[in-house]
Amino acid sequence: MYNPKRKPNKSPLSQQVCVIGLGLIGASVAQAIKDHGLSPRIVAVDRHALSLAEAMDDGLLQAGSAVLSDVVAGSDMIVIAVPVQTVPAVMNDIAAAMRAGLIASDCIITDVCSTKVNVIEAAQAAFGALPTGLVPAHPIAGAEHSGYHARRATLFVNHSVIVCTLESSAAKAITTVCRIWEAIGAQVMTMSATRHDQILAHTSHLPHLLAFNLVEQLAGHDDNLDMFRYAAGGFRDFSRIAASDPKMWHDIFFANDDAIIKALDTYNDYLQHLRTLIVQKDSTALMGLLGRAQAARRHFGHMLSSTPYTDTSTMSASYTITPSTTVSGTIAIPGDKSVSHRSIMLGSLAEGVTRVTGFLEGEDALATLQAFRDMGVTIEGPHDGELVIHGVGMNGLKPSKTPIYMGNSGTSMRLLSGILAAQSFDSVLTGDASLTKRPMERVAAPLRQMGAIIQSTGEKGTAPLSITGRATAGETLKGIDYDMPVASAQIKSCLLLAGLWAEGTTSVTQPEVSRDHTERMLQAFGYPVTVDGNRISVTGGGTLTACDIAVPADISSAAFFMVAAAISQNSELTLKQVGINPTRTGIIDILKLMQADITLSNQTHVGGEPVADITIRASQLVGIEIPEHLVPLAIDEFPVLFIAASCAVGRTVLTGAKELRVKESDRIAVMATGLQTLGIDCEVTEDGMIINGKGVTDGSYPAVFGGGHIVSHHDHRIAMSFTVASLRASDTITIEGTETVNTSFPDFAGLANQVGMAITVTESESTEA
Ligand code: S3P
Repeated sequence: MYNPKRKPNKSPLSQQVCVIGLGLIGASVAQAIKDHGLSPRIVAVDRHALSLAEAMDDGLLQAGSAVLSDVVAGSDMIVIAVPVQTVPAVMNDIAAAMRAGLIASDCIITDVCSTKVNVIEAAQAAFGALPTGLVPAHPIAGAEHSGYHARRATLFVNHSVIVCTLESSAAKAITTVCRIWEAIGAQVMTMSATRHDQILAHTSHLPHLLAFNLVEQLAGHDDNLDMFRYAAGGFRDFSRIAASDPKMWHDIFFANDDAIIKALDTYNDYLQHLRTLIVQKDSTALMGLLGRAQAARRHFGHMLSSTPYTDTSTMSASYTITPSTTVSGTIAIPGDKSVSHRSIMLGSLAEGVTRVTGFLEGEDALATLQAFRDMGVTIEGPHDGELVIHGVGMNGLKPSKTPIYMGNSGTSMRLLSGILAAQSFDSVLTGDASLTKRPMERVAAPLRQMGAIIQSTGEKGTAPLSITGRATAGETLKGIDYDMPVASAQIKSCLLLAGLWAEGTTSVTQPEVSRDHTERMLQAFGYPVTVDGNRISVTGGGTLTACDIAVPADISSAAFFMVAAAISQNSELTLKQVGINPTRTGIIDILKLMQADITLSNQTHVGGEPVADITIRASQLVGIEIPEHLVPLAIDEFPVLFIAASCAVGRTVLTGAKELRVKESDRIAVMATGLQTLGIDCEVTEDGMIINGKGVTDGSYPAVFGGGHIVSHHDHRIAMSFTVASLRASDTITIEGTETVNTSFPDFAGLANQVGMAITVTESESTEA
């Protein structure tokens, strides 16, 4: 990342740079080279004597002329910054200077032009064979104004520069060009010239061409005055770039004609398709197209930088929490993450329209939503947790045009693998830095037993996953009988979902009960599921029928508030209509074993899932040995249960929880480090933890945690758990990396403050992007 306070480079990278063309870009490059001490001498060629004279007066140049041979002698680097159509003439001049011995044969020759193939062709024509010093480059930067006066040494800071490395380029020349750009603050990326021209044709040249065209279309209209008078923000935004220099764009359109014509032809096809949708009044397809485009526009920045979805920039966040002593109130917790994921998946594959309410608008579930949009499903919303999913049926998904980005979400990646393995197209699944470290062979291996072709292309059986749809070769998956080595709902769900397309029956046997939302929701969509103890089976070839899904509040999110009330004096919290599916209530059972005061009321069912209001009051907790059969039923709640255990009287022992080591972080190691930072005596074991609680028996609620700085390792549940610790802390706790809280619990901090905690959220530009 560029540091504006950085001292000028001590060792120059060039002895003399010759800049050809002192317009905005050329002059800015010269100024940046000078300001950073990258060359002791800068000379320039420009046909405007006035610009040269001013640049000499400003001390920017040591010499300047309209004729290259006047000033170029002794240069070891030449930067061509002229309009693309002028490049052939400039190349001829440089070749002549080289032949005349004014510059060495290995002199670096680079440029800043918007097209690259034509630069190379011009060099080829001028030199015969490409010189070893030729390294074409293109800084993706500009400004509203042009010319020498508009120059800025900071113009390239944090902008991309594409450097085209040629087979003929000497390694030293490539390194020097890259180092110059990096030294002036740019981010260098390399690619071939052909690829550069193709990409820029789509991302820059086509939009400019369309902007000029739209203005021309409106200006040519009979009522053009009225048209412009009433042209609102949309027209202004869209046409802004049509104010750019016509000569420059004229040159670019000719210089990159092949790639631009291809991009224009594709654009034409898309436009015709859009026209057809409007003519045919195909509302579902039109909504699908617009929704996909809107989401792609919002999210592509995040996909590129592997950063969270909901934030519009690469922000990182931290919490500063001052101690508070009590919580109270009645609150609604956001929707269940597991159910939200599954509602999108099954709703998309169903026949008919599925309406979802209470959908969790957290990043993980949004990743699933985006994935299905990418595969052609029309999904309206979310608006206040409501979605309308226009199901495409079991065989209606379309291939995503890009790798499917799953952000931080293990559930999305693992469940989708099962679905994608059966499709008639190939897919690639990627995720953020944390997700690409998590084990994927646990689903890939059994899927292969079903005949799936799936590669975990990461280093250690990790994502990216490359999946060849089995139906591409007209084949189908085969049902298997699988004994799961771990009680994982994600593995179970992945295989059951793959089983929907498989020949015969797919059965999974789990060593312990794990959450059963997939089984329940399949049945709600009319798909038969056989449950025989811990053995669950589906037979392939059925269909799903759309239905309405009401997502209950997430008990895993409620857990933070349950523990908050349980450990803090005089507290009483009621959490409305929380899902109490028996495969998720381990947190209630464990807290009750620890003698927490919990009552359930208003029990009912929503969308096939039991719900209840949960009321928790402060009580003196006691340490326990956590029964192992409860581990899968509270698998996501251990970080906050460790906080409860730290406040309990006596020792709490967790065993049989090795799975915690492969969650969003190694939750055993990361929690132990954090607890120790806050003064808790705990011991890590291979499959769990022993915590010596600091609670007392005299009915008081003394501070058990000190203050300190916690690193959450970008794990949402670690961040929220240590927030809860502030209710029994003697000093301020700061938590780093809290932006991931958005994956499961948007506005956690707001709700926590509402009930009595004291969190200040600080957002800053991430240094890790
Ligand atoms: C989930 C299953 C659990 C859980 C995760 C969500 C699901 O993972 O930790 O947060 O929705 O199926 P495992 O199946 O890996 O235990």
